[in-house]
Amino acid sequence: MRTVIAGNWKMNKDRSQALQLLGHLAQAAAELPAGVEVFVAPAFPFLSLAVERLQGAPIAVAAQHCHEAVSGAYTGEVSAGMLASCGVKACIVGHSERRQYFGETDAAVHARIKAVLSVGITPIYCCGELRADREAGRHQEVVGAQVHEALTGLPGEAMAKLIVAYEPVWAIGTGLNATAAQAQEMHAFIRGRLRALAPEQAEGIPILYGGSCKPENAAELFAGPDVNGGLIGGASLDAGAFLELVRIAHRMKKPE
Ligand code: 13P
Repeated sequence: MRTVIAGNWKMNKDRSQALQLLGHLAQAAAELPAGVEVFVAPAFPFLSLAVERLQGAPIAVAAQHCHEAVSGAYTGEVSAGMLASCGVKACIVGHSERRQYFGETDAAVHARIKAVLSVGITPIYCCGELRADREAGRHQEVVGAQVHEALTGLPGEAMAKLIVAYEPVWAIGTGLNATAAQAQEMHAFIRGRLRALAPEQAEGIPILYGGSCKPENAAELFAGPDVNGGLIGGASLDAGAFLELVRIAHRMKKPE
């Protein structure tokens, strides 16, 4: 089974700090265990730099966002084609911070997934419920609706190219991760939804856990049969912690 560790740097690191982190990752690349797909997602100004510095390393570069249009008068935005032309291999779509602070809707997320796929790069599609949703017991309903809105209508061959990340909003940056049981339960639920949309492809789609995932809790979280790695925020800003997460994901990798 594919196993993925992706680091979302969010709006962190200036140029020299980004270079330092990329340097550490590039240096350690030779010792990374094979069989885990590794991505790092720096901010836009450092994407080309990251592609350059990680050339030859088994670490691909992802973006954190893109616009759905091919080009045009969208001041401040970046298209998927621009990312691809810089050597970027994946793009995070639908992160809860985009939904919360920038008004990203499920419809926009759907359009962006299509835009990303159309240029041959991998969408890392994020879903996850708010604390209030979980407290009210409607977390599956909320995540099910997100998955439905974002992915319905994508052909099977497009679904096969997807990476999904379950990130409960209450666990992001809070130090309060989901329990391994909560993560596995939701991942199995998401797998079921994927099966309904793409029966042939669903078993092969990696579903990552995100939300205060760090070396101390990763082995337990990644043990779930439907947990195929992690989307890492805070812990991806430290090369040692991030590389340790790759090693843990490798240990917990499910058989092909
Ligand atoms: P933290 O790992 O900092 O909780 O962030 C998770 C996340 O949002 C990754 O996209």
